[in-house]
Amino acid sequence: MRDELKRLQELRRQAELSGGPEGIAAQHAKGKLSARERLALLLDEGSFVELDRFVTHRTTEFGLDKKKILGDGVVTGYGTVFGRLVYVFSQDFTVFGGSLSEAHAEKIVKIMDLALKNGAPVIGLNDSGGARIQEGVVSLGGYAEIFLRNTLASGVIPQVSVILGPCAGGAVYSPAITDFVYMVRGTSYMFVTGPNVVKTVTHEDVDMESLGGATVHSTRSGVAHFAHASEPACLTAVRQLFRYIPGNNTEEPPRGHAQDPADRQDERLADLVPDNPNKPYDMLDVIRSVIDSGEFYEVHAEYARNLVVGFAHLGGFSVGIVANQPAVLAGVLDIDSSLKGARFVRFCDAFNIPLVVFEDVPGFLPGVTQEHGGIIRHGAKLLYAFCEATVPKVTVITRKAYGGAYDVMNSKHIRGDINLAWPTAEIAVMGPKGAVEILFRREIAEAADPEAATEARIQEYRDKFAHPYVAAGRGYVDDVIDPRETRPRLISVLQMLRNKRDANPVRKHGNIPL
Ligand code: HXC
Repeated sequence: MRDELKRLQELRRQAELSGGPEGIAAQHAKGKLSARERLALLLDEGSFVELDRFVTHRTTEFGLDKKKILGDGVVTGYGTVFGRLVYVFSQDFTVFGGSLSEAHAEKIVKIMDLALKNGAPVIGLNDSGGARIQEGVVSLGGYAEIFLRNTLASGVIPQVSVILGPCAGGAVYSPAITDFVYMVRGTSYMFVTGPNVVKTVTHEDVDMESLGGATVHSTRSGVAHFAHASEPACLTAVRQLFRYIPGNNTEEPPRGHAQDPADRQDERLADLVPDNPNKPYDMLDVIRSVIDSGEFYEVHAEYARNLVVGFAHLGGFSVGIVANQPAVLAGVLDIDSSLKGARFVRFCDAFNIPLVVFEDVPGFLPGVTQEHGGIIRHGAKLLYAFCEATVPKVTVITRKAYGGAYDVMNSKHIRGDINLAWPTAEIAVMGPKGAVEILFRREIAEAADPEAATEARIQEYRDKFAHPYVAAGRGYVDDVIDPRETRPRLISVLQMLRNKRDANPVRKHGNIPL
């Protein structure tokens, strides 16, 4: 027995070293951590339980029969985050560049199957060159097995991808199907193929950073939801996400425990919206003022900043906030912000997280670039997402609710449960200037003083429409509230809606305009 124990200990030691001390030192030299160091930072202390540490690859091609490494380049298992069960895999770049063999794929698939059966999230720590080239189609098959499970698990359990190295091929397509993608600046990259292949195919000279670095993906492509300065900061942020999201689609999200009174009112909100309707203000000030202790977990913070999305607690309820940002492009809806909003709304709806919308939107962004880019099709995604969502849905109109954007941003007509407006709300088909130019073009052209005539008509239009009382008179707005009361009113609404039950027609699935 003692001999067997010794052998087990030796094998465990070998598995822990994976690609060897030199490999780990090379990771450290690049500012990266080892696969196991990352798990230690991600999970509650001492909670990680490893599975499949003795698995090795099977191929004998290219002399690989002589290079078997225990674990085959991925550490898999389960553990807890704030005491709640999560399944994890952590790819090990020191073993064949973290590339995915048949056996490596089987280990990840096992974790995903367990997660789906047991209703707990999967967190993937990705550091991989994609399909293991020496294994050919077998490794492609392995990826396809993972993609299938990513898809079947979508909307059932949360799936989180953390990119912690140069990830290519399948190593980026699996994260792309998951709910949230985290990256680290300077050490993590995502691309279908790296700079060398790009050079060969398109003759473009590009380095890893500008092809697929964290900044590119978190600001321009939108592939990454979060970019952090270091691996520890990134893994700490991943943990924080679990303060807001449930383990699966049948659970309620976790409650917040901030000591922030539900009846707290904020005097600053009374003067936040400027008298001049064209002057910006920062919607993040509104959000932080209203939510519990001002703690906002913003998603996609640097991408399509004209729309703000993220998680917070409000009276202890976990909520998903979607807000137009008048401080960026006047809060207009464009292609990127529509995509960003739609994906976030659908996540919240899938995981029982109520939606709270703050609205100040002049409309959809006009122009050739947007039209040719498909603003109709992309804007429709946000509309579709709000229409299909059955979680509690609340809107606060702080200022402009113009045109199609009024309908889209969770109006009562598309099953918004409660719609509140500040007295500064302006609800109309379009802004005063645009409306007057269309309705009174001839009259203004023929006027002795066209400028004065325009001003007079604008004033008339403002008096008629630039307030919330027409909508409130119809019941499209449930109440016009003092901005200072926003927090208590929203908490009251969330309490009132906590047992909400709503459903969509039975069907195989809808056909969101992709
Ligand atoms: C086998 C691989 C590998 C791979 C890297 N390695 N990628 N081994 N299969 N896919 C090995 C290298 O040979 C090297 O081994 C070690 O990992 C480290 O790689 P380096 O190139 O030295 O590292 P670095 O310079 O940091 O570059 C990392 C990289 C690059 C950008 C990821 O290795 C790369 O471009 N790899 C190929 C990426 C790719 O095109 N994959 C697509 C596969 S197709 P030694 O022994 O020298 O240390 C795919 C299809 C999925 O995934 C389907 C999608 C729908």
